[in-house]
Amino acid sequence: MARLLITGGAGFIGSHTCVVLLQAGHELVVIDNFHNSCPEACRRVERLTGRTLVLEQADVRDGPRLNSVFDRHGRFDGVIHFAGLKAVGESVKEPLLYWHVNVCGSRTLLQAMAAHGCRTLVFSSSATLYGNPDSNPIAETAPIRPVNPYGQSKAAVERMSRDVAESQPGCKGWRLACLRYFNPVGAHPSGEIGEAPQGIPDNLFPFISQVAMGERSSLDVFGGDWPTPDGSGVRDYIHVMDLAAGHCVTLEHLLDGQPQLLTLNLGSGCGTSVLQALAAFERVVGRSIPHRIVARRPGDVAMTVADPGRAAAVLGWQTERTLAEMCADGWHWQQRNPLGFG
Ligand code: NAD
Ligand code: WQD
Repeated sequence: MARLLITGGAGFIGSHTCVVLLQAGHELVVIDNFHNSCPEACRRVERLTGRTLVLEQADVRDGPRLNSVFDRHGRFDGVIHFAGLKAVGESVKEPLLYWHVNVCGSRTLLQAMAAHGCRTLVFSSSATLYGNPDSNPIAETAPIRPVNPYGQSKAAVERMSRDVAESQPGCKGWRLACLRYFNPVGAHPSGEIGEAPQGIPDNLFPFISQVAMGERSSLDVFGGDWPTPDGSGVRDYIHVMDLAAGHCVTLEHLLDGQPQLLTLNLGSGCGTSVLQALAAFERVVGRSIPHRIVARRPGDVAMTVADPGRAAAVLGWQTERTLAEMCADGWHWQQRNPLGFG
């Protein structure tokens, strides 16, 4: 059992990871500024697990507040850092905001950790830092070539974390894992927690789900002329519960291990096209979902698929849930919670 600080733990991936961590017996303190979530998510996590967690409203950029959290809650064995902004389009419009939250916020967190002798960190990185890959599947050794401020911010935090850990001989006890997620989708099978995007969803799965609910009239498929088997974009979708399990395994690996710096892709290794995902969703909802093929979305790439071999070799972790389960669990959440957490 470990005592953990979870930043951004009220969010989509954070809340699902809290379920797995609580079920594994860990004690959690969650901080979140509720910029893209609400406390209800954590209340439902407690109901789902029958366990309690401590929830505090705090901004990771607020150094004094972070130090107060560390001071008041005693020594943390580790931190999982989900808190951040993640919308590519928004990052292009507001790069300084993304550098402030994602980079300066992570710097403030690292400072507070070092000041309190906590040197075990799992960081939410993203496959977006690979940009347009030379080939697929993508290994962790692929060039880091982000093509938007969001991806740049993730690459910067990876570099900053590594610099901190390597600045002292033998990593001076730092245990660090940068997890590069591909495309997390779905929801906890209970339908109690899930992704609750604000406004018009940028991402494919929540948009399809809202069309299926009748909230949106039709799905625009961004491009039918990509160099892919059916012409639509191919991605590596991973069930959020598989991703949550990956975080728990990573954290326990770090806690049990020597000082180290890990960089791991978390994906299925399977590519799914937009049209294949749409067809899978239609099988789940039992009816066709209106859609039309339109022009490519600026900044999109044809294909990004993970090589998840290192995570399997180092952690013994791989995805278990299918595309059908991603669609079924996401649809179950959507049906039970048409207004998200209300
Ligand atoms: P999310 O927006 O649901 O969760 C992020 C959480 O962080 C939210 O609860 C939000 O309120 C909180 N937050 C934002 N700014 C904060 C701040 N300044 N201080 C404290 N809390 C703050 O997003 P998510 O999908 O759960 O993503 C979690 C992490 O994983 C993010 O860092 C994101 O960049 C990364 N990631 C997400 C995806 C994806 O497709 N969802 C893919 C790769 C990486
Ligand atoms: C998936 C596919 C679209 C919406 C993004 C971020 C990335 C990461 C994961 C944070 C693509 C197509 C989509 C729609 C469509 N987030 N699509 N119609 O772009 O792979 O990755 O989320 O780290 O940083 O870039 O995910 O869900 O937006 O798109 O045709 O209405 O679906 O073209 O092929 P993406 P997505």
